[in-house]
Amino acid sequence: MPKHNAATAAIHAGERQAPADFIPVTTPIHSSSAFVYDRLETIDQIAGGERTGFTYSRHDNPTTACLEAVVAALEEADLAVAFASGMTALHLAIMAAGAHAGSRIMAARDLYGVTYKLLLDVWGPGGVETRFTDTLDLAVLEKELDEFRPNVLLLETISNPLLRICDLEAIAKLARARECRVIVDSTFATPTLVRPLTLGADFVVHSATKYMGGHGDLVGGVVATREEFRQPLKYFSRLIGPVLGPFEAWLTRRGIKTMPLRMERHCANAAKLAEWLGSHPRVARVNYPGLAAHPDHALAGRMFNGLYGGNVSFEIRDAGKPDVFKFVNALKMVVPATSLGDVHTMVLYPAISSHRDLAPKTRQRLGIGDNLVRVSAGLEDFEDIRADIERALAVL
Ligand SMILES: Cc1ncc(COP(=O)(O)O)c(C=O)c1O
Repeated sequence: MPKHNAATAAIHAGERQAPADFIPVTTPIHSSSAFVYDRLETIDQIAGGERTGFTYSRHDNPTTACLEAVVAALEEADLAVAFASGMTALHLAIMAAGAHAGSRIMAARDLYGVTYKLLLDVWGPGGVETRFTDTLDLAVLEKELDEFRPNVLLLETISNPLLRICDLEAIAKLARARECRVIVDSTFATPTLVRPLTLGADFVVHSATKYMGGHGDLVGGVVATREEFRQPLKYFSRLIGPVLGPFEAWLTRRGIKTMPLRMERHCANAAKLAEWLGSHPRVARVNYPGLAAHPDHALAGRMFNGLYGGNVSFEIRDAGKPDVFKFVNALKMVVPATSLGDVHTMVLYPAISSHRDLAPKTRQRLGIGDNLVRVSAGLEDFEDIRADIERALAVL
């Protein structure tokens, strides 16, 4: 390399050093679009599938691969693929499950609002018909599966914001008998609580933005699945390129290191909050699977590992939209952010955020009233969370 040519040195000097004899204790951020080898034959072998390696970051990246490896291990999956957001992950899982023009998707009625829209406004015009059904009632579901004969069934482990629980094992059995692929959005549960692939699901999807990242500083998603879906999932990902950048992959990988520990505290704080809210005079109803009165409490006890999730939703007695705004605006520590699963406690008002795009009538039919708020319990001292919510309820 010509040493005194500044234009050339500015580009090449210091780059592509020979491998050192040390190994970083954590996987670094490999912020590189492409990867080179001593000999072109190696790239030829990687491109031809004869050996593994990295050539181009739309295909694979070492930092992202590290994240994918840990998610696959946690979900007991053969592989995982990281994406730029939870919604992209869902979209690619639906593609990899084989949905195409003429296919039918059956989806849980109690579903994240934007997933509803993805099915109706993206897959609908693409020639895929979606029918929403009650996945909580196995008899109804079986009848609907026989009638509608879907190719794909899409549901959430813990629904949002009503926190109902699906019997994943029984549902996967019904779907499998009808050659229907099952996609489970397990964002709210995380693999700390349950691993849906071990119960018969074909794909598990996470918004990594939530508990996996855990600190409110990234947007990402991930799909975990079995070997038989490697080809379509990787192929569509490479063609479309909705990949997670290495920096976000690194942050997510770092977040996951404390996820099991964080989940214990999220769930403990949520359980205390649900208990306390249940005795508050301004609260008409509390939804938390850990409460004995919750309709899916026994199922959650069987299916989860003793934890019941980090989210609680509740109805403020006799409250309309202005009252809920007043309550949220009075909070001093709890953050009114449209997310969940972060270290800080958050409150979300579904009617104006996660379920805003749904017609008010549909929201009402789903049981998401104008007086319903959702709290994602953070890791703060519980007494501080309780005191802030108590103070805000007192202004009503
Ligand atoms: C259950 C669930 N699935 C998927 C998503 C979408 O994730 P992202 O915002 O990372 O695209 C969300 C977002 O809130 C969610 O709550």
